[in-house]
Amino acid sequence: GTTLGTSAAERGRYFGTAVAANKLNDGVYTTILNREFNSVTAENEMKWDATEPNRGQFNFTNGDRILNHARQQGMSVRGHALLWHSQQPGWAQGLEGSTLRSAMMNHVTQVATHYRGQIHSWDVVNEAFADGTSGARRDSNLQRTGNDWIEAAFRAARAADPNARLCYNDYNTDGINAKSTAIYNMVRDFRARGVPIDCVGFQSHLTNSVPGDYQANLQRFADLGVDVQITELDISGSNQANVYSTVTRACLAVARCTGITVWGIRDSDSWRTGQNPLLFDASGNKKPAYTAVLNAL
Ligand code: XIL
Repeated sequence: GTTLGTSAAERGRYFGTAVAANKLNDGVYTTILNREFNSVTAENEMKWDATEPNRGQFNFTNGDRILNHARQQGMSVRGHALLWHSQQPGWAQGLEGSTLRSAMMNHVTQVATHYRGQIHSWDVVNEAFADGTSGARRDSNLQRTGNDWIEAAFRAARAADPNARLCYNDYNTDGINAKSTAIYNMVRDFRARGVPIDCVGFQSHLTNSVPGDYQANLQRFADLGVDVQITELDISGSNQANVYSTVTRACLAVARCTGITVWGIRDSDSWRTGQNPLLFDASGNKKPAYTAVLNAL
């Protein structure tokens, strides 16, 4: 194929990008979006602070703008993210215990119900594990409601939208390490006990290199019977094009790696300000990293 999306589709995968609703009026942005990508993730618009700014009052305006753009263009949508310790509305940050637990589960149910039938994959839980070597859960208000909050969230999401694939998503999980192994053990346990999990997202925010066991790590999760997806790919540094190529080839080498999402279109769209970690420059020109990905697909 001649674009990322069509080339990925020929390999049975999608190629997506994070999208910001307030950029959908930018002609350079939407031209690249519509030409190159066949999947989108809302960069911020489906997060808790955006969708439930006041308890029980939901606002889907900007999430719906992205979803409607995607549907008009025939793109699939990754939902991101139902529960996360970050980007919570202030009212939720102030809750704890059973009150917070009820609010969390209501949030999952209401948002997944609003988008029922329209989401390819949901990041049900984002970034619940600690960095470093402990293999522990991250301390958060969510975690303090009880260790079973993750499985409760997956069950609520399945009940609300039975056709969405339900993912756990995290970063610093690129190689086989203590954090990724802790997540692996959770997924294995969930599969053994019938907790509804279908996929694991690897954010893959990388700096100039990727662990040599990246593909092996994807494969060990796939071997648990879940799909794997590269969900927020961005790569800084002088070795950028080579690393993009390596990551793309790793996904293609794993049968259950179903798609790749980059975390923005142009370098000027990136949350990693000044690091230029994306596939298009600020003017919308294709970078060497773009060509490396296209050639790898
Ligand atoms: C980032 C967005 O790109 C920024 O616009 C926002 O200010 C902060 O969040 N992990 C995730 C994403 O799961 O939701 C984050 O997105 C990047 C890290």
